[in-house]
Amino acid sequence: MCGIVGYVGPRPSEGILLSGLARLEYRGYDSAGIAVIDADGTLGMRKRAGKLSVLRDDLDRAPLADGTTGIGHTRWATHGGPTDQNAHPHLADGGKLAVIHNGIIENFAALKAELVAGGAEFLSETDTEVAAVLLAREYHAHGDDLEAAFRATVRRLEGAFTLLALHEEHPGLVVGARRNSPLVIGLGEGENFLGSDVAAFVEHTRHALAIGQDQIVAITPEGVRVTDFDGAEVGVEPFEVTWDAAAAEKGGWSSFMAKEVSEEPDAVANTIRGRFHDDAVAIPELEGMDAVFAGIHRIIVVACGTASYAGQVGKYALEQWSRVPVDVELAHEFRYRDPVLDSSTLVVSISQSGETMDTLMAVKYARERGAATLSICNTQGATIPRESDAVVYTHAGPEVAVASTKAFVAQITALYLLALHIGRVRGALSAQDSARAVAELEAVPGKIQWILDNEQERTAHLARWMADTRSVLFLGRHVGFPIALEGALKLKEISYIHAEGFAAGELKHGPIALIEPGQPVFVIVPSPVHSAMLHDKVVSNIQEIRARGARVIVIAEEGDAAVLPFADEVLHIPLAGPAFEPLLAVVPLHIFAMGLAEAKGLDVDQPRNLAKSVTVE
Ligand code: AGP
Repeated sequence: MCGIVGYVGPRPSEGILLSGLARLEYRGYDSAGIAVIDADGTLGMRKRAGKLSVLRDDLDRAPLADGTTGIGHTRWATHGGPTDQNAHPHLADGGKLAVIHNGIIENFAALKAELVAGGAEFLSETDTEVAAVLLAREYHAHGDDLEAAFRATVRRLEGAFTLLALHEEHPGLVVGARRNSPLVIGLGEGENFLGSDVAAFVEHTRHALAIGQDQIVAITPEGVRVTDFDGAEVGVEPFEVTWDAAAAEKGGWSSFMAKEVSEEPDAVANTIRGRFHDDAVAIPELEGMDAVFAGIHRIIVVACGTASYAGQVGKYALEQWSRVPVDVELAHEFRYRDPVLDSSTLVVSISQSGETMDTLMAVKYARERGAATLSICNTQGATIPRESDAVVYTHAGPEVAVASTKAFVAQITALYLLALHIGRVRGALSAQDSARAVAELEAVPGKIQWILDNEQERTAHLARWMADTRSVLFLGRHVGFPIALEGALKLKEISYIHAEGFAAGELKHGPIALIEPGQPVFVIVPSPVHSAMLHDKVVSNIQEIRARGARVIVIAEEGDAAVLPFADEVLHIPLAGPAFEPLLAVVPLHIFAMGLAEAKGLDVDQPRNLAKSVTVE
């Protein structure tokens, strides 16, 4: 849950580190720091609690000496509060060695006790400083060989870690290691980079290498060496970053979230792109998986948060088109309930970052028990896809705002593509029905754009008008129920308002007691054309809450006259088939949550207590 950058090359590293950290701040922003080996071969370090701007100001006032070897870190606190002392980098070996870390070293207490017994002293409460002191000890025990010392050190660590280190006796060298935590290499001309993800260096190079589990990397201006924890050289997968630095900037939008909501049509379109031939789905990444798809008896979807709601929407289409039973489970619950798994189970993980520790651990658990695994992920080279048998990448582009929006609609799209593919492989879906679904899916980007063009301002105005609201309820039925959950989560996480999503049919079994005069309730109304029965039941639900004074805001298809008498506000969406309505109905809810958070003057992109990628359990 932290951002990590490393640089070696001919250029002053400070600016490169700081701009890389700026793009990684969404991974955590409790504190930031850099360490640089200057031209005299002396290690300089600066770190400050608070966002990156605090560190920048400090460096402007008292710059570090220039140096071309450096590491940088932006933190989301796990062990020890967000203080200057607990910020990274952590120093050891008399200030000659600097270490930064992303993850949790689970056995740090025992290691710390061992080091203290050996006379070591610690300045911070962090697990990272323990790794730094241990590395310093191994450094001298291995003839001042930093890579050998790294190997000895990481073999003693348990848990999840990406570690970078430099030592002033080795200018031009940065060494890194990863286990269950992200690290990618950027390959430049006479310079090389390390980063938690490609955003750290994409402004300098799009040529990248993905480092695998339990591997160590040493970068110098001349090259890159990757070994396993025993020192044996290993091959790594090169890949090209498909988006540029500009795409990772706000591009003039008021927030990354506003930019990313505007990109929802493209997120769907780009996820579809190149995956149809003659109206049939053809996903290159799934070549070789058809035998697995033909043989499975069950699909379990594992994810967290918004990604889990995408899974709940996808379940309907997966079962309808592939006729395989589907369960959707929260990843952090899944692996502790001793699930029944075998080779006839396909475990589909959904993760925008591809680094969510809960989801990664669920995938590893499923693989160890013989299940087939498939990742739906938005981040190339991420850990979860690399730990899976196959991956279907969503092509939503970088999602920087903590609140996931465009990735959500891309995840549903990818699930639909997967459902169509499996349905065709198993002969459960006719070519005609597949072509019909493909046509509906291809129409979705234009329909989302219609909502952005015609309803965005009204929705944002409604949000501003409701800025003092203290509680909002969300109701949905069938595929609309996960959208109600998603709408509630978005409002909670960026406007800090209590919000709760319910299945509309559940109202009379308890939640209707919450309805009092003026209580705002969003209702996602099924299509009167395609889901007439469900539509009428939801209209009845609306009447029940209206009769008790609720303030009803409905999301309904254009032309749905039946809801008008019972709605205080109507947010329209274009007509779409039942499976496709969720991709439309969620858009006003994203806009509403963003508008209300903005109206309250809150930080829409970096809400309190949260980070973009939860890489600790
Ligand atoms: C979504 O708005 C939240 N930020 C959060 O629920 C997120 O979806 C969840 O942590 C999963 O993240 P992932 O998709 O990167 O695995």
